[in-house]
Amino acid sequence: MIFHRVLLTGAAGNLGSILRRELSPKVKLLRSTDIAPLSGSYENEQCVVADLGDPTVADGLVSGVDAIIHFAGIVKKDVDFADVNRVSIMGMHSLYDAAVRHGVKRVVFASSIHVVGFYEQTDIIDAHALVRPDTYYGLAKAFGENLAQLYWDRHGLETVSIRIGASEAIASNHRQLRSWLSFGDMVRLVEASLTAPRVGHTIAFGTSRNGASFWDDRLARHLGYSPQDSADVFRTEILAKDHIPILTIRLSASRAACGPSSLVVRRLQSADRDFSGHDLGQRGQNDWLYGGHIKLSWLRQFSDAERDRQSPAGK
Ligand SMILES: NC(=O)c1ccc[n+]([C@@H]2O[C@H](COP(=O)([O-])OP(=O)(O)OC[C@H]3O[C@@H](n4cnc5c(N)ncnc54)[C@H](O)[C@@H]3O)[C@@H](O)[C@H]2O)c1
Repeated sequence: MIFHRVLLTGAAGNLGSILRRELSPKVKLLRSTDIAPLSGSYENEQCVVADLGDPTVADGLVSGVDAIIHFAGIVKKDVDFADVNRVSIMGMHSLYDAAVRHGVKRVVFASSIHVVGFYEQTDIIDAHALVRPDTYYGLAKAFGENLAQLYWDRHGLETVSIRIGASEAIASNHRQLRSWLSFGDMVRLVEASLTAPRVGHTIAFGTSRNGASFWDDRLARHLGYSPQDSADVFRTEILAKDHIPILTIRLSASRAACGPSSLVVRRLQSADRDFSGHDLGQRGQNDWLYGGHIKLSWLRQFSDAERDRQSPAGK
């Protein structure tokens, strides 16, 4: 890595905990911070408990570091806008302002595929595609990416915004066959983001080397990220458990669509529930009607000819 004094936010979180362990031996100083207490401390690590929603903490956190791994945030998808605003928007703004004041060179920002969550699964998009956030969570991540662009254009502060797919220990469902990012690859991608000689503001899609993807990541090739894992090793297990649909769906009317972004189901029944008349409202790729097994994008493709067939599994 070309940066040796690094601030890690969200250090008590799922991914932050892994980054602490993996990166602390590779830098001279890792300042790990979170609003939650941090257990223990590693060699070269300084632990600071702080609330990023408090604008007075940013200078102290950033002082003396040359790079930031910004992984803190309000992660729940159904969160109030006020919480998202305080931490993920205002807090990130404070951090970037402090970064400029203290001469920080680069930020690695944990963005999310929820920035583009309103695309259909059939759309393969790259980082130039218009953002289509699917939640306030995704909206805050889109703000973060725009903030990063502004601070690169205006102040020369570099950022790699990683639109993380699903970073979990194993891929455990159908969707994750395309969106999974192993913990090992997550660390490799963060390291690549801190090692690439010049990144400007790069938007990368954070996934492992999965056999299929919703995203075209060629615009981030200069990072030199080389994923080593693949969700494909879980395919058989996932298909056995997840591909067999739990629900049998019947649409009695013709296609259940009533507009470009709103959908009212005319008749839709599962074995134990009746969704007839259910207004799905404006939902995106990441929303599920029932138990994670019926995808809106799939419903949109539903045709009369397929009536009474079992659904392919969603998430
Ligand atoms: N894990 C994934 O699959 C995934 C996918 C997409 C994006 N991301 C992003 O990656 C980052 C890390 O994800 P994670 O799974 O480790 O989430 P996490 O919820 O486990 O970690 C987030 C951390 O942010 C901290 N935090 C929240 N509010 C704070 C505040 N006011 N001040 C300081 N710290 C605060 C939390 O205490 C928590 O430890 C998040 O920004 C998340 O949005 C993760």
